[in-house]
Amino acid sequence: MTATRLLSWILAVLLVQVLVGVVIALWRRRGKAQPAAVTAPPPVAVQAGAAWQGTRAFRVRARGFEDAACTQCSFELEPVDGQPLPAFKPGQFLTFALQLATPGENAARTVTRCYSLSDRPEPDHYRVTIKRVPPPEGRPELPAGQVSNHFHDHVQVGDVLQLRAPAGHFYIDPDPALPAVLVAGGIGITPMMSMLRWCLAQQPQRRLHLYYGLRHGGEHAFKEQLQALAAAHPQLSLHVAYSRPAEADRQGVDYQHAGRVDLALLQRTLPHGRHAFYLCGPGAMMETLVPALEGWGVPEADIHFEAFGPASLRKPSVSVPPPAAAAGVAIRFERSGRSLDWDGQDASLLDFAERHGVAVESGCRSGGCGSCQTRLLSGSVVYDQAPDHDVAAGHCLLCVGRPATALVLEA
Ligand SMILES: Cc1cc2nc3c(=O)[nH]c(=O)nc-3n(C[C@H](O)[C@H](O)[C@H](O)COP(=O)(O)OP(=O)(O)OC[C@H]3O[C@@H](n4cnc5c(N)ncnc54)[C@H](O)[C@@H]3O)c2cc1C
Ligand code: FES
Repeated sequence: MTATRLLSWILAVLLVQVLVGVVIALWRRRGKAQPAAVTAPPPVAVQAGAAWQGTRAFRVRARGFEDAACTQCSFELEPVDGQPLPAFKPGQFLTFALQLATPGENAARTVTRCYSLSDRPEPDHYRVTIKRVPPPEGRPELPAGQVSNHFHDHVQVGDVLQLRAPAGHFYIDPDPALPAVLVAGGIGITPMMSMLRWCLAQQPQRRLHLYYGLRHGGEHAFKEQLQALAAAHPQLSLHVAYSRPAEADRQGVDYQHAGRVDLALLQRTLPHGRHAFYLCGPGAMMETLVPALEGWGVPEADIHFEAFGPASLRKPSVSVPPPAAAAGVAIRFERSGRSLDWDGQDASLLDFAERHGVAVESGCRSGGCGSCQTRLLSGSVVYDQAPDHDVAAGHCLLCVGRPATALVLEA
């Protein structure tokens, strides 16, 4: 090998080494730069809650009021069997089956009610927050709400209650890149507390806007907790609106906005861009705000809502309910041995059954909990809109169903 060829070889090897070094340095720089970019943490899987069949015994381990007026009380519940709890999706609810004495009846009977989980999933306990329901305004002669008052007046630490597993299709989209707008009216704050506490713990980059409408400071639930969360988490914007502030309520300290949570407030305070909206509150709030959001151009898929009772609000895509059978079709309740004629007076088969004294179970009365699910032995049932609960094959939900034909029901 000549000296010139040897020199070329050495130069070539050096060049290759320099090139390799440059490539490695660039690759390392790229590797270091990556963590600096804002990357969302992987979404934490939140599993569906139908983890046990039927009811499970829970002991009340704590109870405490959440508002100054002492009308909203939280109950912490731990499983009597001591086994870990299944996670639920923030926004879901529990169904309680209580044995209660009813005036005019000798034996206690099962009364079913749903209550939203009001905290993020924890392995050892669940929490619900229950508002005491008074008689309707101007009707003091009527009995106050049966179950909510029973909880407030009689359910104490150490008591054992029977619960169905967490359920419901109203829960937060786990995509951390999608800013969430949580709109609560009154006791509708409960599923929002669960969504909020879960997001803040699991998705610290997610933008959150909580709008909470109430009348005055006396009924402001979770006040200190919400203020502390907003102070600790700059990604959370808190908007509390009082429609009838008391004299002692201070705007800017106790609440941010005077008036109701309406579209104008959302338009004034929300940044531009896509948001997922979650609404839970009194019928009047939902019936104005949901159409207003649609009118503002929010796509139907980004509007999620739940009513705490029979809802008159339809999902936007459902405009004309399917026709129910005309009055006169035969409804047979097999187990009760009753044959009746559908007279078209009732909004649902549940109302019809109750009006005629047929014993049927119910809970949410809005197609969400499955308590009124009944085997359909023959005939077909129509729903104004697809129920939230997944109806088992060969069954129907009485609370949101009406007959399409003559029916034979197992009840
Ligand atoms: C999915 C879901 C989640 C829910 N989450 C929550 C929650 O987190 N917190 C919460 O507090 N609630 C929640 N609710 C509402 C809850 O389930 C109950 O509906 C509520 O507690 C009222 O039940 P009650 O037994 O106290 O009242 P009920 O006994 O059902 O009475 C309801 C109203 O009817 C009135 N009334 C009684 N008798 C008559 C009569 N003869 N004529 C006319 N009116 C009469 C009562 O005075 C009362 O005002 C939720 C509901 C659903 C469906
Ligand atoms: S009562 Fe809850 S689904 Fe019918």
